[in-house]
Amino acid sequence: MIAAPARAAGKTVVLADARQLLTLADGTASARTGRAQGELGLREGWSVVIQGGVITWTGPHAELGPVIAGNRDLEIHECRGKVVLPGLVDSHTHLVWGGDRRDELEMRLAGADYEAIFAAGGGILSSVRQTRALSEDELHRASLRRALRMRACGTTTFEIKSGYGLDLEGERRQLRVARRLGGDDGLRVRATCLAAHALPAEFRGVEGGRERFLEQVCEVILPAIVAEGLADYADVFCDRGAFTPEESRRVLLRARALGLGLRVHANELGSTGGALLAAELGAASADHLLYLDDRERAALREAGTVATLLPGTSLVLGKPHADGRALVEAGVPVAVASDCNPGSCALESLALVLALACYGCRLSPAEAICAATHNAAASLGLADTVGRIAPGLAADLLILATDDYRDLVYHAGSPLIAAVFQGGERVV
Ligand code: NIG
Ligand code: FE
Repeated sequence: MIAAPARAAGKTVVLADARQLLTLADGTASARTGRAQGELGLREGWSVVIQGGVITWTGPHAELGPVIAGNRDLEIHECRGKVVLPGLVDSHTHLVWGGDRRDELEMRLAGADYEAIFAAGGGILSSVRQTRALSEDELHRASLRRALRMRACGTTTFEIKSGYGLDLEGERRQLRVARRLGGDDGLRVRATCLAAHALPAEFRGVEGGRERFLEQVCEVILPAIVAEGLADYADVFCDRGAFTPEESRRVLLRARALGLGLRVHANELGSTGGALLAAELGAASADHLLYLDDRERAALREAGTVATLLPGTSLVLGKPHADGRALVEAGVPVAVASDCNPGSCALESLALVLALACYGCRLSPAEAICAATHNAAASLGLADTVGRIAPGLAADLLILATDDYRDLVYHAGSPLIAAVFQGGERVV
């Protein structure tokens, strides 16, 4: 499912003598909760050896010699005084879209309301019109440009949702572009069908329109997407002005029966039932969660559903922040993602967003790094592939031009990402 990024055969790559190596390798491979969410497995003065795109050894730099002895094709990256950590895992993006909504940004900054713009046929529906208007190649070009900028900011794994097609051809086109980014383009990608993102214009104001659209999603779009192997997950926008919990349950149950994993846009605009629905269905992830009470947190914990926080969206929309502290204290595994989309948050840097999770959602820097690496990977079923630094995992790694990982938060927004490795290849 996950295409292996291109790699040079035979070469041994070494990241040598890092001041701080954040392995996240102690403890289990499942998503981290409570105190373990803040345990980074920090090693000082360690090195990493990579062969064939995979981490083959980590250990004290003093012990590196024998490990690489006799190896003629060596590529050594000096990391003294620097931080090495796993490539960031962005577990919630909508990065395949056409056009832009810069005009809406200005309208909102002047006081217009996101939900009112959406209800009036703008918002998501504006992006649907602009996305449908592009050819697949145009859509791919625009999306790849964005994805490469995101990678330059540290993201090496991307979850990518559809949801700007809202008909079979449109959804298929978005997901094919997502697969192409994960194939020929060498990014690591998980694709999610979000056909139930909004009621499309052609079904609005039409007798029985909602019912007919849901029927279309369940009986036409999802089965075709699954038959063509275009998605790993399904998602629903379960919130005020989008889909009710009953409508969302129907779509998610159908998706589950077809073999897809589940993710839910939940409790972004109010306490609208999405979080409890995600827990009820054992969804891999419930996302946004701005409004959440103790009962909902307990339900997520019991279900093992990862709570994915999107603080960039709160910032851009001027909304409250999700209470990350309460989630960690309640024992819910927390992930942080960008939500990169054309409307509610076009921020591309997950490194910046993880800092927002500290300032806004009250995570510690260590908890936020776990949230944007290992826990995000776990929510995508990739915990044994990415998100930690240990033998056997993919060599998706970052080098920071600083000697303390907390600078990602302390100096948020500064150009600290000195190098990005994807599948053992230095790509930035
Ligand atoms: O996660 N909430 C729904 N979907 C996106 C916004 C999409 C858009 O405005 O285009 C989100 O914020
Ligand atoms: Fe989203």
